[in-house]
Amino acid sequence: MAKAGESITIHGKTLKNRLTMAPTVKFDYAGADGKVTDLHIQHYAERAKGGVGLICVEATAVTPGGRFGENHMGLWEDAQIEGHKAITQACHDENVVALIQLNHTGITANPLCGEAIGPSAVKIRDGGMSREMSLQEIHAMQDAFVSAAVRAKEAGYDGVQLHGCHSYLINQFLALKTNLRTDEYGGSPENRARFASEIIARIREVCGKDFLISVRTAGADPDLDGAIRVAEEYVKAGCDYLQVSSGIGPIDPSIVPEGASYNDVCALGVYFHEHFRGRVPVSCVNGLLTPEAVNDLLEKDLTDTVDLGRAVLADPDFPKAVLDPAASYVKCFACPRCQYGPGMPKKCPALMKRMQK
Ligand SMILES: Cc1cc2nc3c(=O)[nH]c(=O)nc-3n(C[C@H](O)[C@H](O)[C@H](O)COP(=O)(O)O)c2cc1C
Repeated sequence: MAKAGESITIHGKTLKNRLTMAPTVKFDYAGADGKVTDLHIQHYAERAKGGVGLICVEATAVTPGGRFGENHMGLWEDAQIEGHKAITQACHDENVVALIQLNHTGITANPLCGEAIGPSAVKIRDGGMSREMSLQEIHAMQDAFVSAAVRAKEAGYDGVQLHGCHSYLINQFLALKTNLRTDEYGGSPENRARFASEIIARIREVCGKDFLISVRTAGADPDLDGAIRVAEEYVKAGCDYLQVSSGIGPIDPSIVPEGASYNDVCALGVYFHEHFRGRVPVSCVNGLLTPEAVNDLLEKDLTDTVDLGRAVLADPDFPKAVLDPAASYVKCFACPRCQYGPGMPKKCPALMKRMQK
C-alpha cells in the first residue's frame, strides 16, 4: 500500500491515512455572534467525505478582540459550543479525527474587533503602535485559550491546535522583532515559548490525558534552530503533534535541497520531521497541490502527515486522487490571492470547474 494510505496513531487518535486538512478560515460564513453556521457544517462534511484522515477546523477566535473580522467564528463563550457539535459529528461519521485551531490576532488585531495588543509595543501595519500586554493580561489571554479548549472538548473535538504561526499572537511571542520583553516571556527560546507552553500544560491538565494537543508552529522564527528549540519546549509541556508553517521572519532559501519537489515552507517541516523523528509526529504543508507532490514527500519518509490547504478547498475529493492514481480531481489554480478567501468562495475557479463536471 502507498504510504499515504497507511494509518498513523497520534496520542491515541488513529488517522486512517496520512492526509490532513489544514485550517482554512471562511471569513464570511459566521455571523457577528461567532457561531457555526450551516455553511461551515456543509463545508466540513464535504471535506470529511472527501477522505482526509484528520480535519483541523479553521482559526477560531478565543476572544472577540482576537477575531480576523466581524464575521469570524469563535469559541469565547459557551453559546458557541453547540454548532461545533455538528462539525465534529460530520467528521466522526466519516472516521475523521477532528481538531480545531485556536487563535488570537494579537498585534494584527482588526480595529473593528479589538485593540492591537501583544508581547511588546512595536510598529504595526497601520503605522501606529501595538500595546504591550501586562503580566495580568498575558495570564488572562492564556485563560481564554484554555477555556476555548475546554469548550472544544465539550463540542466533541478530539483535540486542539494552537495557532502558533502566520504572525498571530503566539507567533508574536516567538519572533525577536515583535517580542522585546525582558521578563520571563521574552529573551531566551524557553522564555519566548513560555506563553504557549503554559497554555499547553494547562490544557493537558483540564482537558485530560487523552486530548490531542497540536501546535502549528512557525518553523523559522527567529530561525530554524531557534524554532526547533521553541518546539522542544512545546513538546516538554505536552504538545503531541507539530504542524509546521511559516511565521514572521524570512525563510533561508538554502534549506531547500537542490531538485526537491517541495518549497521552502514545506522544507521547514522536513527539518522538523528529521529532528523529532520517532518522538513527535510532524506535518508538512504548503504548495502540495498534486497527488505526485504529496506522495513523493510521504514515500521518501520526509514527513509523518501532509497537511492540505488549497488542494481540498479546490476539490474536497483530492485525497481520493492521492490514494488512487485512477481517481480524477480538479487541481487548484494557485491564484495569486486565493479566491476561496474573504467574501468570494464562489470565485474559486477550481470550484466552478468542479461544479460544471
Ligand atoms: C483561504 C485560506 C484560509 C486560510 N486560513 C488559515 C487559518 O485559518 N489558519 C492557518 O493556520 N492557516 C490558514 N491558511 C493557510 C493554510 O492553512 C495553508 O498553510 C496554506 O494555504 C498553504 O498550504 P496549501 O498550499 O496546501 O494551500 C489559509 C489559507 C487559505 C488559502
